[in-house]
Amino acid sequence: MRRETGSYDVTVAGGEPVRAFVPHPLPPQNPPVDLGGAVGDRLRSAEQALVRLELAGAMVPSVDWFIYAFVRKEAVISSQIEGTQATLVDLLNYEAAEPSTTPTAPTADVEEVCNYIDALHFARAQLIDPHGPPLSMRLLNGTHERLLRGVRGATRLPGEVRRSQNWIGGSRPGNAAFVPPPPHLLPETLSALERYIHADDALPPLVRAGLLHVQFETIHPYIDGNGRIGRLLVSLLLEHWRLLTRPLLYLSLFFKRHRAEYYRRLTAVRVDGDWEGWLDYFLDGVATIAEEAVSGARELFALVATDRERLLAHPEASVAAVRLFEALPRHPIVTAGSVVSALGVSRPTAGRAIDTLVGVGILVETTGRRRDRSFAYDGYLRRLREGTELGDG
Ligand SMILES: Nc1ncnc2c1ncn2[C@@H]1O[C@H](COP(=O)(O)OP(=O)(O)OP(=O)(O)O)[C@@H](O)[C@H]1O
Ligand SMILES: [Mg+2]
Repeated sequence: MRRETGSYDVTVAGGEPVRAFVPHPLPPQNPPVDLGGAVGDRLRSAEQALVRLELAGAMVPSVDWFIYAFVRKEAVISSQIEGTQATLVDLLNYEAAEPSTTPTAPTADVEEVCNYIDALHFARAQLIDPHGPPLSMRLLNGTHERLLRGVRGATRLPGEVRRSQNWIGGSRPGNAAFVPPPPHLLPETLSALERYIHADDALPPLVRAGLLHVQFETIHPYIDGNGRIGRLLVSLLLEHWRLLTRPLLYLSLFFKRHRAEYYRRLTAVRVDGDWEGWLDYFLDGVATIAEEAVSGARELFALVATDRERLLAHPEASVAAVRLFEALPRHPIVTAGSVVSALGVSRPTAGRAIDTLVGVGILVETTGRRRDRSFAYDGYLRRLREGTELGDG
């Protein structure tokens, strides 16, 4: 064991004694975390990759659309880790559907992904608001409430820290792989976590974000949604500490790809005190995903630029068609009705704009029906989809 990262609290749960793990407050001590050697190299690569990502974001004239795209990509991937099967296309289809033509409620999966987006937006808006709460459990609880809102969330105490003992792996606390702190120690462990967010610590912010993610998962403050809130916390911290001014880093993609290692590294912090091993994995994730985001942003940007030229060169390019095109990165699946309301044009004008984009090969009809048709910005979606379908490399 490299160091002790917590102590065990023996309580009784379900009629049998249970050893719950109570993490020591951050930062790691005895010894302090070692940022020399391999971890130091990883840290520098990760920091450089983040700078490149920040610049890639800043060089794009309108960053709004690709943030939107990546946020959605993140939402789908992060929810897939938790076993949600909604794909990006399900989500975009749901968003494009006209209220009058969707008699069915959103599927639970789609609802969950929409909740994730809603939760991220909520947290960012609160942080920007001068009257909003600081980055705190109060803020995370509000975020959690949005994440678990709706049909499936009701029994999982949305917005509230758990009041019962939980466990990971196993059929009961007594035979679990990991038992987080008992509920009566949550106020204490969570205040320590909050204090560390705002503490004056000499460790680099990226390292602190990595430590905080593990600490959050170890405390496991909610009945459900701990993984998603803990990953969202990393995005919020990077923005809070000005490592990125936009939420462009999507670590869930990396955790999904290397899920067994993710769980193994989390466990090794608790069992072996191996913070360095976790940081090596985490910082590798930051560097890898930041580089991928830079090239992804470039590719999407290049694609939109080429398609715009093709459209402008087309003899039937109308003002409405160009406006529709410019709206597509935000809403890559449209219907006649959604175009009418998005552009504030008549139905015939909307129909002609769609026809023009179909003619240029930018939009593709996806339903095969004659009525209630829906159209997708296919090339863009294909780019966006890479990595978000289960079973894709
Ligand atoms: N051995 C472990 N030690 C600490 N944390 C772990 C361990 N294994 C998994 N985790 C964390 O717990 C999360 C799952 O907890 P929870 O269910 O509350 O969150 P969630 O967002 O709903 O995810 P899921 O739907 O997968 O359960 C994982 O995503 C991971 O971050
Ligand atoms: Mg869960």
